[in-house]
Amino acid sequence: MSILVTGGAGYIGSHACVELLNAGYEVVVVDNLYNSKEESLSRVQKITGKSLKFYECDIRDAEGLEKVFTENKIECVIHFAGLKAVGESCKIPLEYYDNNIGGTVILCQVMAKMGVKKLVFSSSATVYGDSPIPYREDMHVGHCTNPYGRTKYMIEEILRDLYASDNEWSIALLRYFNPIGAHESGLIGEDPNGIPNNLLPYISQVAIGKLACLSVFGDDYNTPDGTGVRDYIHVTDLAIGHVKAVKYLESRTGIDAINLGAGRGYSVLELVKAFEKACGHEIAYKIAPRRPGDLDVSYADPQKAKDLLGFETQLDVDKMCEDTWRWQSNNPNGYDA
Ligand code: NAD
Ligand code: UD1
Repeated sequence: MSILVTGGAGYIGSHACVELLNAGYEVVVVDNLYNSKEESLSRVQKITGKSLKFYECDIRDAEGLEKVFTENKIECVIHFAGLKAVGESCKIPLEYYDNNIGGTVILCQVMAKMGVKKLVFSSSATVYGDSPIPYREDMHVGHCTNPYGRTKYMIEEILRDLYASDNEWSIALLRYFNPIGAHESGLIGEDPNGIPNNLLPYISQVAIGKLACLSVFGDDYNTPDGTGVRDYIHVTDLAIGHVKAVKYLESRTGIDAINLGAGRGYSVLELVKAFEKACGHEIAYKIAPRRPGDLDVSYADPQKAKDLLGFETQLDVDKMCEDTWRWQSNNPNGYDA
């Protein structure tokens, strides 16, 4: 059974490819390499000892996608491809709507034409906005504070409309909390362009000496140490969640939103301490003003993932930091030689 992985050369997609290959699936990747390198896929094959098929193709290219479906017996699609930088989405919203929403519509049109109606979609905890914690899937969503978040919410709604129009579809809307970490081989990991926006890539670049000092955005939140609390999930656990979602879709139709998180939060300073333990030295940091749009606390209610998918996270924050450090120290320039 072949799984099409859009955005498979990216951070989460490459880890998902490893787990899919390990689980015995054939994997076909479509990626336009806008935010990734083909090298990640060579490394996926090195880790697993198995091969996958790669098409350099934009998901907005319907003809290109049709060729991929014609040449492969695709039974399910995991759809990671998209743009994901919150700040950038405020500057170039139309690019985000075109790529994320336009791309998803074209992908679904091609899937429908080819008779493939099983889809796992990368949504985000950002759709919960400032709902009370823990976030549950039956909460009202859509209070997003930025265009990126709105694309995720709108795509969820589009996919609900799609299912309502044709009950043969089987769709999982996976709402990720904060994915961090890297494959334990140290061969694949997150390789952000420029200065990282997210916490863990920033910390790890301070640890390796590429950046001087972490700015901790606010120490006056309503949390035990005053810094923001998030539900960090190891990217390998997240990838395994996708394999379980594919299995879940195999035998049913319907549409479900499902949280993928650990169900507990860690503060910025707790993460700094865990990283110091992993890398063996101190991380320079200073307290800075709050970042606009940030919440004090975010974490999942993970019960639905357990009930429907049999999914529970296995890897703790120390392992997330150790694996990130192995990736960062073995690849100080990411996938660039
Ligand atoms: P990433 O940027 O590493 O991976 C996305 C991949 O999609 C990249 O390889 C990029 O080149 C590709 N891509 C982008 N637009 C494309 C297009 N039009 N056609 C073909 N390929 C295209 O990002 P990631 O962190 O791996 O995230 C994967 C998905 O998960 C994204 O949809 C993202 O919004 C979602 N998500 C990520 C996080 C996170 O913290 N990383 C959290 C919640 C949701
Ligand atoms: C952010 C996005 C979210 C997106 C997610 C994954 C915002 C408001 N939210 O989530 O939509 O799905 O990334 O891409 O951008 N922090 C620092 N210093 C830093 C960086 C972060 O103190 O240099 C703090 C933040 O204030 C927050 C925590 O670390 O408390 C985590 O931040 P980050 O990794 O950016 O993730 P989110 O803000 O949760």
